[in-house]
Amino acid sequence: MSRRPGNPTRRLSDGGSLPSGGSVQSKSRSSPLLSIGLVVVGAILLIVYCYSGSGRRISRKEAFSKLEGTGSCTVEVQRAIPILKKTYGNGMHKVLHVGPDTCSVVLKLLKQEETEAWGVEPYDLDDVDAKCKSFVRRGFVRAADIKFPLPYRPNSFSLVIISDALDYLTPRYLNKTLPELARVSSGGVVIFSGYPGQNKAKVAELSKFGRSAKFRSSTWWIRYFLQNSLEVNEAASKKFEQALVKRSYKLLCQVFHLKS
Ligand SMILES: *[C@@H]1O[C@H](CO)[C@@H](O)[C@H](O)[C@H]1NC(C)=O
Repeated sequence: MSRRPGNPTRRLSDGGSLPSGGSVQSKSRSSPLLSIGLVVVGAILLIVYCYSGSGRRISRKEAFSKLEGTGSCTVEVQRAIPILKKTYGNGMHKVLHVGPDTCSVVLKLLKQEETEAWGVEPYDLDDVDAKCKSFVRRGFVRAADIKFPLPYRPNSFSLVIISDALDYLTPRYLNKTLPELARVSSGGVVIFSGYPGQNKAKVAELSKFGRSAKFRSSTWWIRYFLQNSLEVNEAASKKFEQALVKRSYKLLCQVFHLKS
């Protein structure tokens, strides 16, 4: 996940900016200076071009990994897997992740012992790597509009984890989607959701969902769960919090644990 394209380019641009400072002083030998100046300008233009070029062709996956520092909740799910394991133990044996970049979560979950994993991608799966394509081919990952019933039988999974997805749904659709998540899981639903006022970059990046994210406060969520008779799993919430403190983890997203 920590691919950082552009580092070598940045080093180049730092070096490239040095000669231009010296070129201002000696006016007598203008023609070599001119050519140096042109080379520097050319290099800068090239760098700018490369930057904007790679920016346009950037894949969604890279866009998400770029957001690593700014708190994409799907990245937080990956960070939290050991904590979730501590909280749910055996309850992690059959996990469904719902959210963007689900292949990376499925891959990470599959690396855990005695964990099977599936993924639902709420956007699309056009722009994915070979590993992800193989998950799709084998039926582990699928694209599905989460505003509609999920294509799984009741209690298909021991745990359902959702990230970066509910923030895009209006209460009308939340009313349909959350009961669906509870329906397909037997041991609970874990919701990773952004904090209100969370970074704008993420909002811009994910507005492909047709609606920009609305990050709600934890009071809003708790009230919503109550009104819709979705029961918070207090025991799991407590265990999760304790495991976080023990490992001095600080998650950049709100996490809610619901019963199925
Ligand atoms: C969602 O469901 C709750 C409880 O059934 C209801 O009170 C509320 O009006 C619903 N919201 C929408 C937008 O349909």
